[in-house]
Amino acid sequence: MSVDILLGLQWGDEGKGKIVDVLTKKYDLIARFQGGPNAGHTLIFDGKKHVLHTIPSGIFHNKAINVIGNGVVIDPVIFKKELDNLATHGIDFKSKLFISRKAHVILPTHRMLDAASEASKGVEKIGSTLKGIGPAYMDKTGRNGFRIGDFELADWKIRYEKLKEKHLKMLEFYKVDVEFNLEEAEALFFEAVEKLKTIQFIDSEEFINNAILTGKSILAEGAQGSLLDVDFGTYPFVTSSNTTAAGACTGLGIAPNKIKEVLGIFKAYTTRVGSGPFPTELFDQVGADMGRIGNEFGATTGRPRRCGWLDLVALKYAVQINGVTQLIMMKSDVLSGFDTIKVCTSYVFKGNAIGHLPYNIESENVTPVYTEFEGWETDLTLLKDKKDFPPSLNNYIAYIENFVGVPIKIVSVGPDRNQTILM
Ligand code: GDP
Ligand code: IMO
Ligand code: MG
Repeated sequence: MSVDILLGLQWGDEGKGKIVDVLTKKYDLIARFQGGPNAGHTLIFDGKKHVLHTIPSGIFHNKAINVIGNGVVIDPVIFKKELDNLATHGIDFKSKLFISRKAHVILPTHRMLDAASEASKGVEKIGSTLKGIGPAYMDKTGRNGFRIGDFELADWKIRYEKLKEKHLKMLEFYKVDVEFNLEEAEALFFEAVEKLKTIQFIDSEEFINNAILTGKSILAEGAQGSLLDVDFGTYPFVTSSNTTAAGACTGLGIAPNKIKEVLGIFKAYTTRVGSGPFPTELFDQVGADMGRIGNEFGATTGRPRRCGWLDLVALKYAVQINGVTQLIMMKSDVLSGFDTIKVCTSYVFKGNAIGHLPYNIESENVTPVYTEFEGWETDLTLLKDKKDFPPSLNNYIAYIENFVGVPIKIVSVGPDRNQTILM
């Protein structure tokens, strides 16, 4: 069988966790392919909210196997917390959760380096989640990293110490004070490693390709969003991995010709957390209302998310980079009650109208051009069928589909698993 990919098309937090959970019943295997505990994927069902950072969002279903792929970076401490939070759910982690030996490990000193790097940048900081993501991926590509499989080696503590010493030397370079209790962090780390070792480590590329050969259906779960991709995002205000479809190939060991559907997920408006350009950002009451109604606070850091109108120039770019075959529109309910809804359909870039995402999208270079729509009053959160959609929502959907050339297959009308409408 083949593999489908689900990934975010904006700056993250599109609602990936919710939709992976909704779709898991269709799949045998859910596999996270990149990112780490910078991700916060929220699932709500039976009146309870769960936030996952490293564990794939298929974990609450009976049948599906969940794999953390080689492209992911894992902090044992956060991973242990996630397992502890799930303790009451009676999940058999031995048979349902597997970790790639080739996934990289976030050491406590990676977090120190992240903090020092951000502090040294001052106002130009990226707004990182400070989970050690950048430094861990730097060690990976610099060929110094510590991998999950290393925990199976007799000398893993020596390897750990060697890398830690290197990091401590690197910290001197930054000349900033980082408040960090390394001794305490290491005690938690070593305790968490023991818990981590209770989960099966696998040669995940072999495992996943065998699953494909034996007819299993696979959903690859992305983290972050396409505009945070290290190559195609708003560099340098990005994360340190490939969040786009290609990342699923390298992050799981899946060949491109095994990919079938690419499910691209976006909010009916736009949010961003952390620094960096955001052409359609709103600084007025409308933006504040979106944030309040949409409860736009980071699932990992609790920071307020910046809000603005849907940017179709950026969406079309993300659809193209990923080869998206189906769209999923989230948080449509949040737009109920706005008199007018706007979407950005082109930019004025250095005085000229353009329809693509240019190299520099900082506000001094780019002014968004909007098309306006009549809003709707209907409370969407109670709807069960698309036939009950207000005409202006249908109009909005049709416009987006036509603009980017891909159908919207799911419309989400609330955070709960059940508030999901198949088109
Ligand atoms: P992810 O990182 O892509 O998994 O998204 P997050 O979980 O970080 O953020 C999405 C937020 O929106 C969470 O708080 C979800 O519970 C919530 N959410 C998801 N879908 C909807 C929706 O259709 N309507 C509303 N109002 N909230 C939603
Ligand atoms: P999910 O999977 C939204 C942002 C950070 C920062 C930049 C770099 O929940 O959608 P990093 O910690 O990677 O060094 O941060 O990327 N960021 C996210 N924003 N959702 C996420 O994940 C994010 N993961 C990282 O805010 O701007
Ligand atoms: Mg999130």
